[in-house]
Amino acid sequence: MVRTTLSVLKADVGSLAGHNVVHPLQIKAAQDSLKDAKESGLISDFYVTNCGDDLELIITHKKGEDNSEIHNMAWDTFKKAAKVAEELGLYAAGQDLLCEAFSGNLKGLGPGYAEIEFEERKSEPVVIFMADKTEPGAFNLPLYKVFADPFSTAGLVIDPTMHDGFRFEVLDVLEGTSFELNTPEESYDLLALIGTTGRYILKKISKKDGTVASRVSITRLCLIAGRYVGKDDPVAIVRAQHGLPAVGEILEPFAFPHLVAGWMRGSHYGPLMPVAQRNARCTRFDGPPRLIALGFQIKNGKLTGPSDLFDDPAFDMTRAKACEVADYMRRHGPFMPERLGPEEMEYTTMPQVLEKLKARGKKEE
Ligand code: F6R
Ligand code: MG
Ligand code: MG
Repeated sequence: MVRTTLSVLKADVGSLAGHNVVHPLQIKAAQDSLKDAKESGLISDFYVTNCGDDLELIITHKKGEDNSEIHNMAWDTFKKAAKVAEELGLYAAGQDLLCEAFSGNLKGLGPGYAEIEFEERKSEPVVIFMADKTEPGAFNLPLYKVFADPFSTAGLVIDPTMHDGFRFEVLDVLEGTSFELNTPEESYDLLALIGTTGRYILKKISKKDGTVASRVSITRLCLIAGRYVGKDDPVAIVRAQHGLPAVGEILEPFAFPHLVAGWMRGSHYGPLMPVAQRNARCTRFDGPPRLIALGFQIKNGKLTGPSDLFDDPAFDMTRAKACEVADYMRRHGPFMPERLGPEEMEYTTMPQVLEKLKARGKKEE
């Protein structure tokens, strides 16, 4: 049996045309860096792409999760791409590299990552989701549907190897506490938590025998930096088929462009629009928030692919709906619920505005 780790690591280290897209020379710098790592034997294979202004490193290796050599190499790779951004005068060069020096693990340093170590099955299909202008809680709704909603995933009802349901790990990002909940038994408890998408984040989903099926990146940049530095633009890995949801079941919930937090200045609700990688460029009102899905096969650590899964007319209606919803939401201007609620705004300008007005406040009798 071959044990492989799939690591998807991402950072916004600067981009072209404001917070729009990663520059091809940054992609090239990252590819060169990962090519060296592959030739040195540190990693098995890699693929570099971008979702909007986020540089995405997809890496296979044999070092396991949270490995300092792998994270150090990814950090160096992000640094190289940030250097290109500086040289070209790209926007927000080095934005997500919050610390001067690498300190053993990427956790808390700015870049986001999702990793799964697994024993390769005879055939190992995976779907990698990458989003721009939103936060990790954006995956709560669709991943719940993939792994727990029989109206979305047929296999939960008709595949005997999925009928037992799944185990969900939820992280309370404010308290730093995590919970494990089983579906279908504890579906309602699970939904009670993960409906609060800014706080309770689906982090990991496994089969009840412990087989890991999915991981979501969960950095909350604003909490790390203590001030607003952009939404976290999450990634998620989902293993597919043969006792796990089929690729089509994994994509199905994304046919509904649900509202997610992010968009302009990380402060608005907008529809999550699934797009082909080439269309992962946030434009209107710095959005609407975009999602790409790349499908790969992994064999002895080698990545075959990708198949650009949302590059498909089957999602045209979803995109049209997303545009219609974007129009509708924008008509609210600076009002809730288009603008995020006060808890989320705490990390933006709200405290400064309140501070400024404090002296002018009069107590009502
Ligand atoms: C949201 C995002 C953008 C920026 C906006 C302002 O995640 O990246 O919407 O917040 O373009 O950017 P600055 O403050 O850099 O001018
Ligand atoms: Mg940016
Ligand atoms: Mg981004």
